Amino acid sequence: MEIQQIPNAEVPDDLALAAIALEYATWPTKKPDLRSEAEKVRTYRNRSVGRQAFFAFDQKLLGYAEIFPRVIHTSKGSIKIMGLGSVCVDLEARGSGLGRKLVEACFDAVDKSNADVCLFQTGVPDFYKKFNGKCVTNVFVNRTDPDDPEKNPFWDDYVMIYPSSYNWPSGIIDLNGKGY
Ligand SMILES: CC(C)(COP(=O)(O)OP(=O)(O)OC[C@H]1O[C@@H](n2cnc3c(N)ncnc32)[C@H](O)[C@@H]1OP(=O)(O)O)[C@@H](O)C(=O)NCCC(=O)NCCS
Repeated sequence: MEIQQIPNAEVPDDLALAAIALEYATWPTKKPDLRSEAEKVRTYRNRSVGRQAFFAFDQKLLGYAEIFPRVIHTSKGSIKIMGLGSVCVDLEARGSGLGRKLVEACFDAVDKSNADVCLFQTGVPDFYKKFNGKCVTNVFVNRTDPDDPEKNPFWDDYVMIYPSSYNWPSGIIDLNGKGY
């Protein structure tokens, strides 16, 4: 199955809705998502400028992932990163190589972008280690948060970079925006 890469702004409405449904099935919230379809699509399109979406589609959407550019602030100055998020495969399609195809497509796009490195949080570090990801242990903050600028904006147990060979700075990292 080929992975389709589509700029966020150009994703057709039905695919955007399928992506939102797959994300919701993967990470259900306590409350049902009562937004109208139009509202869901509108929010999806506004996720961020320069975001690229990756779809694994076979009759229905089986896998999804996103990358998006951001500038973060480190002890070595500001660097351009690509964030990686929403990596998910339909429960019934797991274990057949779709996750691999999605992540390889995302990391290939990172390689071709002008970002220095890819940065993401995860609960499954061993999965990403297969694709040359590496765990980092910096303190992360979000100084754009007026209420709690020193709070860790990430919530998963692990933060990783790709490629593992990147000369990642030590010290505090200001994510310069919300966690993802
Ligand atoms: C993690 C996830 C995307 C993997 O998708 P998948 O299609 O099942 O993965 P693949 O079949 O492509 O597996 C590729 C390789 O990773 C391994 N792998 C898969 N899931 C793994 C996990 N949770 N931990 C460690 N290794 C894992 C597979 O064994 C396989 O290894 P191999 O090539 O040596 O045989 C999928 O399980 C998922 O959607 N999980 C829930 C959401 C999630 O945790 N996403 C990651 C958020 S950061």
